[in-house]
Amino acid sequence: MANTTSDELIFFVNGKKVTESNADPEMTLLRYLRTNLRLTGTKLGCAEGGCGACTVMVSKYDYISKEISHFSVNACLAPVCAMHGLAVTTVEGIGSMKTKLHPVQERLAKAHGSQCGFCTPGIVMSMYTTLRNSPIPSYEDVVTSLEGNLCRCTGYRPILEGFRTFTKGYCCGGNGGSECCRNGLNGCEEGVATQLFKPSEFLPYDPTQEPIFPPELMNTDKYHSNTLQFSNDRVKWIRPTTLARLLDLKNLYPHARLVNGNTEIGVEVKFKDQFYPVYLAPSNVPELTKVEVTDEGVTFGAAVSLSTVENVLKEQIERVSESKTRIFAAVVEMLRWFAGRQIRNTAVIGGNIMTASPISDLNPIFLSAGCKVTVASASRTRQLVMDKHFFTGYRKTILEDDEILLYLHLPLTRENEYFHCYKQSPRREDDIAIVNAAMRVVFESGTDIVSELAISYGGMAPTTVMAEKTINSLIGRRWRTILIDEVCKLLDEDLPLSASAPGGMVEYRKTLSVSLFFKFYLSVLEELNADGIIEEAVPSSFKSCLPVFCKSMISSTQMYQEVSPGQPIDDAVGRPIVHTSAFQQTTGEAVYVDDMTPLQGELYMVPVLSKKAHAYIRSVDAKDALAVKGVHAFVSHSDVPGNNIINHTGGFELFASEKVMCVGQAIGVIVADSYEIAQKAVKLVSVNYDELEPVITIQDAIAKEQFHELQRKIERGCVQEGFEDSDHIIEGEMKVGGQEHFYLETQVTRAIPTEDNGIELDSSTQQPSIVQEDIATALNIPKHKITVRVKRIGGGFGCKESSSFRLSAMAAVAAHRLGIPVRCMLDRDIDMSSTGTRHPLLVKYKVGCSNNGRIKALDIKMYLNVGCFNIVSVFVLERAMLCLDNSYNIPCVRARGYGCRTNIPAGTAFRAVGTPLAFVVTETWITDIAIVCGISQEKVREINMYQDGDVTHYNHPVTLNHSLQKCGRNVWKIAISEVVRKRLASLIGSIIFLNYGTTNEQRTAGNNNRWKKRGIAICPVRYPVGIAARHMNQAGALVHVYADGSVLISHGGVEMGQGLHTKMIQVASSILKIPTSKIFINHTDTSKVPNSQPTAGSLSSELNGNAVRDACENILQRLEPFMNKGSWEDWVKAAYFDRTCLSSTGFYRTPVKKFSWDDDPGAIYKYFTVGAACSEVEIDCLTGDHRVLRTDIVMDLGESLNPAIDIGQIEGAFMQGYGLFTMEDLRRSANGVLLTRGPGMYKIPSFGDVPSIFNVSILSNCPNENALLFSSKAVGEPPLLLAMSVFFAIKDAIASARRDAGLNGIFRLDSPATAEAIRMACQDDFTEQFPPAEPGSFVPWFVRP
Ligand SMILES: Cc1cc2nc3c(=O)[nH]c(=O)nc-3n(C[C@H](O)[C@H](O)[C@H](O)COP(=O)(O)OP(=O)(O)OC[C@H]3O[C@@H](n4cnc5c(N)ncnc54)[C@H](O)[C@@H]3O)c2cc1C
Ligand code: FES
Ligand code: FES
Repeated sequence: MANTTSDELIFFVNGKKVTESNADPEMTLLRYLRTNLRLTGTKLGCAEGGCGACTVMVSKYDYISKEISHFSVNACLAPVCAMHGLAVTTVEGIGSMKTKLHPVQERLAKAHGSQCGFCTPGIVMSMYTTLRNSPIPSYEDVVTSLEGNLCRCTGYRPILEGFRTFTKGYCCGGNGGSECCRNGLNGCEEGVATQLFKPSEFLPYDPTQEPIFPPELMNTDKYHSNTLQFSNDRVKWIRPTTLARLLDLKNLYPHARLVNGNTEIGVEVKFKDQFYPVYLAPSNVPELTKVEVTDEGVTFGAAVSLSTVENVLKEQIERVSESKTRIFAAVVEMLRWFAGRQIRNTAVIGGNIMTASPISDLNPIFLSAGCKVTVASASRTRQLVMDKHFFTGYRKTILEDDEILLYLHLPLTRENEYFHCYKQSPRREDDIAIVNAAMRVVFESGTDIVSELAISYGGMAPTTVMAEKTINSLIGRRWRTILIDEVCKLLDEDLPLSASAPGGMVEYRKTLSVSLFFKFYLSVLEELNADGIIEEAVPSSFKSCLPVFCKSMISSTQMYQEVSPGQPIDDAVGRPIVHTSAFQQTTGEAVYVDDMTPLQGELYMVPVLSKKAHAYIRSVDAKDALAVKGVHAFVSHSDVPGNNIINHTGGFELFASEKVMCVGQAIGVIVADSYEIAQKAVKLVSVNYDELEPVITIQDAIAKEQFHELQRKIERGCVQEGFEDSDHIIEGEMKVGGQEHFYLETQVTRAIPTEDNGIELDSSTQQPSIVQEDIATALNIPKHKITVRVKRIGGGFGCKESSSFRLSAMAAVAAHRLGIPVRCMLDRDIDMSSTGTRHPLLVKYKVGCSNNGRIKALDIKMYLNVGCFNIVSVFVLERAMLCLDNSYNIPCVRARGYGCRTNIPAGTAFRAVGTPLAFVVTETWITDIAIVCGISQEKVREINMYQDGDVTHYNHPVTLNHSLQKCGRNVWKIAISEVVRKRLASLIGSIIFLNYGTTNEQRTAGNNNRWKKRGIAICPVRYPVGIAARHMNQAGALVHVYADGSVLISHGGVEMGQGLHTKMIQVASSILKIPTSKIFINHTDTSKVPNSQPTAGSLSSELNGNAVRDACENILQRLEPFMNKGSWEDWVKAAYFDRTCLSSTGFYRTPVKKFSWDDDPGAIYKYFTVGAACSEVEIDCLTGDHRVLRTDIVMDLGESLNPAIDIGQIEGAFMQGYGLFTMEDLRRSANGVLLTRGPGMYKIPSFGDVPSIFNVSILSNCPNENALLFSSKAVGEPPLLLAMSVFFAIKDAIASARRDAGLNGIFRLDSPATAEAIRMACQDDFTEQFPPAEPGSFVPWFVRP
């Protein structure tokens, strides 16, 4: 076929041909699918390749090999122009509720793997792609395919369990057989079940039923051999098909970017304001995609994808001897931790090299391996060695502008050559490195004398660097321990980092650089010893730090009480029924606000946000923005017809008028024809500021005495006497970091003006009535003219309670002013920068205890980082102060709380509000007592635990505490029982039984590895259930029974993934005694149920459930006269013909007493949800890495309304708490800019973080005697606290490492226990070498607020 040029983009989507004659080179595949094709199943979660919500499958036919390949892709980064000649499959293309579900969709839903559902289509497509490549995949294939997907709701376990049913050798799932792994778990107690779904009911997977690849794309090579060119008014995108043409084009456009995966360029353009007028796509230039295996190694074309590199090298490792493939093995090992599968499928090797990022994972390997590269321009081809001269500066290489990278040559190793690589990142999977390294050593034949050495690091300088001085000094030396001290000093000289170095964590990075060399040293020592070259062996207590991390298959059990055999089959309460929207979510049919079809003339809004943390606004000029074609308006404070100060926000202006108080505060909005236009115009709005000094951290606020007026104090007993009566007095300080909500669906709203000057609004809010109220305030119209609807939201976790009203009110003002519908979905970075987080807390405590560990007195000061305005902070602070006891009786307490006024966005509500902040501090001083008194933590917990008849520090009588003790006992029994251990260990193929005892001494004995330590902790949780504000303890419902017997429920709660609607349907089913299939909930709507309360505080099931019950009971009463014969439908029909009202409201108010902080809160909580968790971890003392080996949870949930949903809440909350306490690390620049504002920089737990053994058990036969609804207990928030057990297991492991270093006694560990925190707490000779710089002597790269 002749090489012609085409400007028509042709590809297939779900089997249908798409021809686009005006392809936009700046458009991503995701936007094309969602906007042009209206395929909204594929979601936008981050636009930076970090969450996987946008995953689709792309299939390609290779005209030469005649093979079809399928790969998962992040549609948010893939340029639509790159799809020419390819077939795209989206979630809509594989199955639907209207036709037939695909087994992936069915199994995910039935395994309860979808809660809010926003992540679900992406997860479905990752798994679907795996099946298309391997119909019976291994478990590792499944886990690897999901590395690039995040879920904030489920805790991942149910997704993995559901998909495991596709894998090789999948166990029957408890369906029989004497060898079944689940035998023995069933029937632990009468009526206790251990399975939440029945795999035997799943559709079989038949790969022959999959859609065929479009034949049109196979019958001709024109799609691959034609040159393509697409352009818009500012960008050109050219795909040449020969090398000569590519080089000519690069000569013509020397600054053109070669675009392959677009995983780097896409992020630069979207988030770093880069603009590239010309793109050259080399994907169809044969030389750039070639792979050649030679006697010297493997040559890769620069456009070979990382997945292909991985596969080719794995084949070579299988084929060629181990000693020759050590560099290949290092590349494969590094690729295991390189991004997620979707990124590796599209990103290419040349892209990684040429980006020249200082934290590139592959460049240290290529440098240390001394790889050669071939580079070419139109006039010459040359070969270069990747050495210290290759990278010439930050993101710069030695290549000329007109040159491209053609090949990378990866060499084989020699017999006496050893090679290892290392990467340490905040999260193990799909994360960029803090420090990475690759090291190679060659010895003189048969000796341990170094003849060649290469050591390179990433993350230690603006480029990948080689440690030259260290290398030169070691050449000719013998491989002996004596080298280590010398290397430590030399590396410090080779890798200087100033205290203000970009990236921060300076002492940690320096410590890592030497720790990683130490690992290399030991590995090579081991290898030399194994090869018989030296006798010196690695000491046995050091060996544990050598093996590389291996992923393990998770094993789990979920235990819950079955409904009693006598319960009517139609009564759904207590049954583990599937979330009502699960099938819509797995098929992509579930509609979220941004999926709604645009209305006629609908406009898009993007906010203009403050770039300064504290400043007077001198002027705002939107002239240039308004001149952009397609821009309709700049709306600001002067356009607000009502009050610009929104009622319940503590004085927060909707649009800042004179002063900005934080970065991210809204100054106005641009309204335009499209997102793209609005986005561009926003950058043209010029704001001039008179800057004031900002205060960002709690410490600064204390020093400058900047507080909000919300001081709180609580006292019980005489603290002074308590201390006098104590044998020990311990003083300490702890900081607990904030947390970003990271719901997968960012905040979104659409405001529609109505004919009578009102507004209809679709919003992703947790509190429709407050949104309604705030719009009424801003527009100065009565509430009855405002309707707020919520179909479902893609996760909320509190932020969509306390900050979603702002976006909605802004959209309403804009829509009202223009008389046109206005929509806005916040970009991920904007959402994170502007909506606020969980409050950080600093605590100073003094605790007194007796020798036997009994608590005598506590004096505590809590400093909350409230941010610039107090929106919900008073509740957070009060909650933290009320919860400072967790489960313990503290006879004398003096607690004082302060709200620090800082220039960060106002702190928000977040699952469990102030409780986790308080509990983790409480457990910290409990562990301090254990250390100081020399007794086990468990003992301290046990002897101080509340007994019935005790009274809390706020005068709440303690009753029914026995279930907490039972949870504690059960969890300990399950976690420690050797029998259970061994049985579960056999499931994962290795005995993991540890010699843990219950005393520190026993643990130390079983924990004798110097560089890897295991720790264990059990933590109780006693979570007070209730919302202090009395008016918030009410709910309404509206139930209609239609003449055909179908039932429609409306209630005031919002479905945000927690299964609220499912539970409400179960309640109605139980009261009306009809199957759930007859009951439907459409959406939440302020015009149906007025004055609703926020869906928050774990109480929504109880409040709304009782309102639904009330309405159903009213109707049932009216039906009574007709119930003497026939079925439900007959009664309803008879009642209808008898003119009986079949519609009823329902109402409920919780019997709570009036709360007053000043007059002794007393018995303000109806009951407590209790539970306990035991976690075991392993830490790497040299790097700070950790993994959770096992978690056992036992909770008392009374009689669960729906065990599947409740266990989902437990697991999801646990994993969210795990993130809070271990890795979610909010960092800001010293002038208040949030640095961690996307999945790239802010890490939430991923699939790989699920505990290897994860057992959850709901206590059976434990009805809640104080229940509000049936016999259940609230569940949404309390299990988050159980993740403290991981934090304290880590602390336990660190304590062991410190003991080895001769450091006994208490030590400070702030939350989160990040890799940095763990490594630096494991003090040793390496850390000693790098003391922190004097505070105040430098400007830190970041601060923790
Ligand atoms: C979510 C996510 C996770 C990531 N994780 C990691 C990680 O764990 N480790 C890591 O190291 N990186 C990571 N990255 C960075 C990125 O994926 C890699 O650098 C990737 O290899 C870039 O390849 P690409 O094909 O997407 O490059 P593109 O974005 O298409 O191009 C990148 C740059 O390379 C230039 N270029 C490409 N090919 C050539 C050539 N032949 N000649 C000259 N110039 C060329 C381009 O002009 C451009 O400047 C991640 C990125 C994302 C979005
Ligand atoms: S939206 Fe594409 S990865 Fe997040
Ligand atoms: S279900 Fe995964 S993010 Fe909500």
